Amino acid sequence: MSADTSTTKFRHNTADNQVSHHTKLDNSFYCIKSMQWLLVIGIIVLLYSSLVGLLNILFPEKHLDWDNINTDVLNFPETFTWGVATAAHQIEGHNVNNWTQFEDRENKESSGSACDHWNRWQDDHNLLVELGVSSYRFSIEWSRIEPNQGDWNEDAIQVYSDMIDSLISKGIEPMITLHHFSHPIWFEEKGGFYQQQNISYFVDYCSRIFPYFSDRVNKWCTVNEPDVFSIMGYHMGMFPPGLRSPLKAIRVMKNVMVAHGEVYHRLKHLNPNSYVGLAKNVTIFDPYRRWNLLHWLTTFALNYIWNGAIISALSRGKMYGKSVTKVKNSADFIGLNYYTHVLTSPFLPQTTEIDLPSRSHETVTEFGYPMYAEGLERATKWLNKLAIPIEITENGVADGEDSLRPTHLKRHLWVIADLIAKGVDIRSYYHWSLMDNFEWAEGYSMRFGLYHVDYENQQRTLRNSGKTYQQIISRHNK
Ligand code: GAL
Repeated sequence: MSADTSTTKFRHNTADNQVSHHTKLDNSFYCIKSMQWLLVIGIIVLLYSSLVGLLNILFPEKHLDWDNINTDVLNFPETFTWGVATAAHQIEGHNVNNWTQFEDRENKESSGSACDHWNRWQDDHNLLVELGVSSYRFSIEWSRIEPNQGDWNEDAIQVYSDMIDSLISKGIEPMITLHHFSHPIWFEEKGGFYQQQNISYFVDYCSRIFPYFSDRVNKWCTVNEPDVFSIMGYHMGMFPPGLRSPLKAIRVMKNVMVAHGEVYHRLKHLNPNSYVGLAKNVTIFDPYRRWNLLHWLTTFALNYIWNGAIISALSRGKMYGKSVTKVKNSADFIGLNYYTHVLTSPFLPQTTEIDLPSRSHETVTEFGYPMYAEGLERATKWLNKLAIPIEITENGVADGEDSLRPTHLKRHLWVIADLIAKGVDIRSYYHWSLMDNFEWAEGYSMRFGLYHVDYENQQRTLRNSGKTYQQIISRHNK
């Protein structure tokens, strides 16, 4: 081998070695880089799943195994109050208020004669006796009592007064709601609860009407569902005035709570012994996909807007970052209206006409939302923060065929009995509703009654679920 050849070989070898050395370096560089990336991704996945795991542990979506629970065994204390609930505009018929105005303007189904309760209330009180309830929650219609501003209709006041006497003579305790979604057109035209200065009209009305009845009526609900009223009317556009602005809805909700606080203090001043609260709809929001952080974020936001803000107003005098001082501690009891939970994602339907999602094992009710009695327990957890008695002021189901209502009723009562046994201070249950009635945006299509109503001839017929309720009550009233 010549010296030249060996030098060339050596050079080649050195060059090869250098190339392979560089390649090795490059490879290990890329290897380290991709390991770093993998590490970063791994850490992100770990953090994400720990966070989601933690959220799942902290906020479980409880589901009971109903097949293995005997809901026929229900134990309630003797002092428990059994009731049913209605609202003036949904049953009375021929009102002239913000709702009838909205029904006409939006071409909605008209409430018309509703259940013609204004003319048939004596007979309807007999239905209460037939059921065996010891209390009846109903509302008085501001637009009947003050149809024009400052114009007081003594005849209408007298009818409500007669209703109260009739109930008491039958051993049924009245619970009156002062505002259940409807009010006079003159109040609506001034801007209703959207305008803070209008709150005084409502407060004056309540202070004026209260002394007529407060000698005989002890239980008062100032307002029904400030949450539903404001969100359906000002954000979802499905209740009057039909607007679609979340900010307006929040403003109205706050004003309604301020109105509640003012009314509470006025009524307590007029009669310190009366028992005054409000009916709060607690809807539980759960993430649709429990691994999706966006669904969790939406859930937290909605739970705060719908439930947390009102609880915070009552417990801390603060709502949406603003002070509502007179609202703090302004309730002797909290009324709970409980219907369902809503599975939440950032793309929630903007109208209730769209079917809401449900878990595969859940029964979907006619209204499109799932039957979820377990949520009632979770709802009381929100309310327990207030440390005042809970009255279940509404619970029921739309079920024209009455195929779900008996089960629905028994499951919810089972949860309530269980909560009472665990020490939660729940004093009453008012089933929604005594009879089928005008279901607001859904008109007459949704039937919530323990009594079926034939709107052709206004005949009321006790449903099987009504009989079930009747039996449960009579078993406990012995
Ligand atoms: C509640 C409302 C009742 C009744 C019920 C059934 O939100 O207070 O008036 O309509 O829903 O959907």
